Amino acid sequence: MDYFTTTSNAAKRATDCVIVGVYDRGKLSAGASEIDTASNGELRRLVKSGDVSSRSGRCVLLTNLNGVKAARVAVVGLGKPDDFDIHAFCRAVAAALSTVSESKCKDVLNTLTLEGAGDAGAYYLARQTVQTIGDVLYRFTEMKSKRKDSRMPLGKVGLSVASRGDAAKAMLGAKHGDAIVEGMSLAKDLGNLPPNVCTPTYLARTAQKLAKGNGKLTTRIVNETDMKRLGMHSLLSVTAGTNEPAKLIVMQYKNGGKSKPIVLVGKGVTFDSGGISLKPGPAMDEMKFDMCGAASVIGTMATVAALKLPVNLNVVVPAVENLPGSKATVPGDIFKSMSGQTIEILNTDAEGRLILCDALTYSRRFKPDTIIDVATLTGACVIALGKHHTGLMSHDDALADEIVEAGVNASDRAWRLPLSDEYAEQLKSNFADFANVGGRDGGAITAGCFLSKFTDGLKWAHLDIAGTAWKSGQKKGATGRPVPMLSEFVMSRCNALP
Ligand code: BES
Ligand code: MN
Ligand code: ZN
Repeated sequence: MDYFTTTSNAAKRATDCVIVGVYDRGKLSAGASEIDTASNGELRRLVKSGDVSSRSGRCVLLTNLNGVKAARVAVVGLGKPDDFDIHAFCRAVAAALSTVSESKCKDVLNTLTLEGAGDAGAYYLARQTVQTIGDVLYRFTEMKSKRKDSRMPLGKVGLSVASRGDAAKAMLGAKHGDAIVEGMSLAKDLGNLPPNVCTPTYLARTAQKLAKGNGKLTTRIVNETDMKRLGMHSLLSVTAGTNEPAKLIVMQYKNGGKSKPIVLVGKGVTFDSGGISLKPGPAMDEMKFDMCGAASVIGTMATVAALKLPVNLNVVVPAVENLPGSKATVPGDIFKSMSGQTIEILNTDAEGRLILCDALTYSRRFKPDTIIDVATLTGACVIALGKHHTGLMSHDDALADEIVEAGVNASDRAWRLPLSDEYAEQLKSNFADFANVGGRDGGAITAGCFLSKFTDGLKWAHLDIAGTAWKSGQKKGATGRPVPMLSEFVMSRCNALP
């Protein structure tokens, strides 16, 4: 996708479609005013007659407006001016784009970037425009036999800006947005692929492909023999029931001189049946999304590499399939983790923490500045926060604040849950150092608490994306979250933001 900025009048731009907006009570956006003036008040007449709605998310496509150079004008409802924040902005852009995507537009001009959306400046308005377009245009057709030519003709997006200074910020926003779309689309593809295709081996190959031809990026795969040698018996206990070989994927992006790396660890359970503690049938197919943590950290790596950010970033993905079988781990089994601590498996469905703990211990060799794990870890997190906020846990207040802020800025938010010592009580075991489950109460937190036993002395945070990584129902599919939040975090760390 190509992007450009312009300060020219919305009515005078020869484009396939110009996007303008109308607020409640008929207040026109800056671009809409220009269209209205050029068309001799036609827009106001349409607002008055009720043919154009100011309801947030509504969109009407007008064609052949007198005095307007563009072939089409997409008028979107913006709601109340006071409520027009970055979310309303994204809703409006999405509404316009889904209308536009049904026509054959090759280029569009978004004039909504002229509106003050909360305190978002030109950079974030441009970035969110690009990300929203990427989201609306995303299609997953890889597994359809009759693949319609689903390529969108849309190839060029204009962003209206008020000044030269804003133009530079908007171009940077568009460039970053484009790279984030690349990372999110990769994360969505990996999440959406069926579990018989997207195996641990497939994830490993994808990570290797990303590194090919990139001098700053290397990928190494640790196989089961090496895992045994390293003492990763907790990870290996999860893969015992399947024939699919487990992989530990290790990606290293080096472009930050001698600085200590940021390490992202992503849960890569390519299918979670629950194992011997088998899950119930309904919606079990959605457990193909149990590798979305892995997909999001690999996606973030793709974004960072595309932008050639000046940073050292490592990605570590424990990838396994969790199945029952005669060799599978059973409740009561005890394993020694790579850290030396022993774990009593009371529920084989609490497998995410069992692979993550060894991946966290493995990651110590990189002497991380900061380490963040990302996982579809608990149904309890979905109960606690629903599907809007990612769950965030950390002992480090400054790091937690930094992640929350990155999420707010990127419109990909997290909410912190407490991680105090009392929760450790629930993990007590009569037979091993601790158990892998802590009962129903505070299930998201006891999972975080389990992981914290492996992160002593590290600057660590845990993201539970069980609610945010994919959508259920009619729009079932991976969301690509939290690639925007993680990318924002990394960009902020290496001063790549304006
Ligand atoms: N992958 C699941 C978590 C999950 C469940 C995410 C449903 C999204 C929707 C995880 O491996 C799991 O099964 N967790 C158990 C933990 C329990 C056994 C302590 C859960 O949440 O039920
Ligand atoms: Mn599970
Ligand atoms: Zn799982």
